[in-house]
Amino acid sequence: MIEIVSLNKTFKSNKEDFVALEDINLTVNDGEIFGVIGLSGAGKSTLIRCINLLERPDSGKVVIDGQDLTLLNKKELNAFRKNLSMIFQGFNLFEQRTALQNVCFPLELTNVPKEERTKIALELLEQMGIQDKANSYPSQLSGGQKQRVAIARALASNPKYLLCDEATSALDPEATESILSIIKEINQKQKITVIVITHELSVIAKICDRVAVIHNGKVCECNTPTQIFKNPQTEPTKKLIASATFLRGNNKCRLNLLIFFKTVI
Ligand SMILES: Nc1ncnc2c1ncn2[C@@H]1O[C@H](COP(=O)(O)OP(=O)(O)OP(=O)(O)O)[C@@H](O)[C@H]1O
Ligand SMILES: [Mg+2]
Repeated sequence: MIEIVSLNKTFKSNKEDFVALEDINLTVNDGEIFGVIGLSGAGKSTLIRCINLLERPDSGKVVIDGQDLTLLNKKELNAFRKNLSMIFQGFNLFEQRTALQNVCFPLELTNVPKEERTKIALELLEQMGIQDKANSYPSQLSGGQKQRVAIARALASNPKYLLCDEATSALDPEATESILSIIKEINQKQKITVIVITHELSVIAKICDRVAVIHNGKVCECNTPTQIFKNPQTEPTKKLIASATFLRGNNKCRLNLLIFFKTVI
């Protein structure tokens, strides 16, 4: 379980301080796919980076399985982070490494012998349906394939939690669908708890059990996707939903909208 308690984060600069997160209180239960949705600049990435302490909160607690991460020293924190893997919009693969070598990377860090790590990495690539791309470099892969490699690499350390920051935002609708299916499968079969950060309502509708809406650094509501979409309680949530129902002449937006209505209503 992840408990975020009274968390605050301000970015300080010479000119002006910027309050990015204010009094965040959230609980993510084991086994959930928990969504965080909000407009650009709302504080979503800052929040997910505070969960694994890539960003250190100014105050508040990040308690994971009863352990407050803010109290750990560097060595303890690095050891704990093995439970938390992350995937990103930009995939963040090592361009000079093949798909297989990318997936092997976390296993190298923990000194898993070469033969064993190759076996584990090949199995993960097979699970992602891209074993035939094991020796391809990232530049030779499509966006969806790159994200599959990134997921395989994230799973290599056998994490309990997967943090996804806009993991499908760079993908076309078809690749988005397949990555969301993979995330759902990982959650259900491997019992990995997932946090999904997104600005796309369709992502929330398709895979999340609960969702928090974040606006200007504050959580304005937290509920099931159905309740959020059908019965939004706050103005920012209402605006977010209304903005998705405008057809902007953009195919991705239209398709998202169709998935959204098909899934939720
Ligand atoms: N290192 C930093 N220094 C100063 N301000 C920052 C820093 N990182 C983020 N911010 C500010 O904090 C706010 C929240 O940023 P964040 O990246 O968390 O937003 P987001 O919700 O993830 O947006 P997007 O959907 O565009 O990714 C933004 O206004 C951003 O400019
Ligand atoms: Mg972001």
